Amino acid sequence: MGHRYIGSKSKIVNKVVDKISKLTPQHSTVSDLMCGTASVSIALREKGFSVIANDLMTYSYHHAIVGLKFNKYPEFKAAADFIEKFYIQDELNLFDLSSYDKIINALSNVDSVKGYFWKEFSLDGSPKNTLKPRNYFSSINAAKIDGIRIALSELYSDRCITDLEYSLLQHDLLMATNDIANIAGTYGHHLAKLSGRAKDEIKLSPSVLLTRKDTENHKVYKGYAEEVSKKITCDLCYIDPPYMKRQYAANYHVLETIARGDEPEAIGVSGLRPWRDQYSNFCTKTKIRDSFKQIIENMSCSSYLISYSEDGLLSMEDFIALLAPYGDVYIDEFKHARFRSNKSKLDQKLTEYLIHLDMS
Ligand SMILES: C[S@@+](CC[C@H](N)C(=O)[O-])C[C@H]1O[C@@H](n2cnc3c(N)ncnc32)[C@H](O)[C@@H]1O
Repeated sequence: MGHRYIGSKSKIVNKVVDKISKLTPQHSTVSDLMCGTASVSIALREKGFSVIANDLMTYSYHHAIVGLKFNKYPEFKAAADFIEKFYIQDELNLFDLSSYDKIINALSNVDSVKGYFWKEFSLDGSPKNTLKPRNYFSSINAAKIDGIRIALSELYSDRCITDLEYSLLQHDLLMATNDIANIAGTYGHHLAKLSGRAKDEIKLSPSVLLTRKDTENHKVYKGYAEEVSKKITCDLCYIDPPYMKRQYAANYHVLETIARGDEPEAIGVSGLRPWRDQYSNFCTKTKIRDSFKQIIENMSCSSYLISYSEDGLLSMEDFIALLAPYGDVYIDEFKHARFRSNKSKLDQKLTEYLIHLDMS
């Protein structure tokens, strides 16, 4: 199933990257300032650009590291004992497996634990501060996720895996979790009844990595675009902000908890982690303009490409009024299938915009 992410550009990534390629020469430095799933960052790397990826969310950090920072498959050398202990050979598979395949196999075989995910996010659990159990995962999957989370955090704190290896395995756990989550699109709510793939058992799978000797060209940051922009010098900055009021931190809180490897207080019916530290101004109409201004004024960059949608909080007129004082503004528009997190009756096609601000 892959990513289930509002605003992911995976389906229109070619359009975005073609536009960027027309605006700036190959091999120049492009920043993907709100990279989400890192779909655009990865496509930019494939095209030969140097990429600076950033997002507010920790899961995005892991996705971007996986997309940009590997020049070969990792060897998991220091995890040999762990692999030895938990790896189970498949009698039918006669091929020699890589150590990456083996650690995925080993992690899949660690003991399930009735831990934080089981207690807070499965029907058999008993959440700490509400009476009604939450149904994000089957109880079997929640306990499996707990087991894998504990194994990963021990491997990392015992230095049996490197930072890169940790990000890769976290990314793989996030992707596997998306496949079996009992949700209708985002983690804002769970479904009442366990349905569809949520009934299947969670399955970790190794990722296909882009392995090029260009990793030194790429950087990954995690933070507020308004702040991180002070550190960035680039030829073009691509900005794909949230369009609507829905805060990513609230809608993807479960993924954030996996990515951080922590056990925060889970609050209310949805079990939200405290998320105000990742509140985005781009989800509040009165704050967006100031945030865009800060980015443009902080960054050493004279060309910006912004993705936006007709559903967005700002109209194209608002954008022109905001950006025109800085330079020339050009707008491309095209139709694109709408992300639907439920069976909404909204028109299935919506207009997407690519707004170019040229300050040169
Ligand atoms: C439309 S999504 C980006 C999707 C991405 N282009 C992709 O293909 O997956 C918007 C992203 O902006 C991030 N975000 C929101 N406010 C931010 C801020 N102030 N600084 C950095 N990232 C922010 C969200 O976490 C989310 O991942």
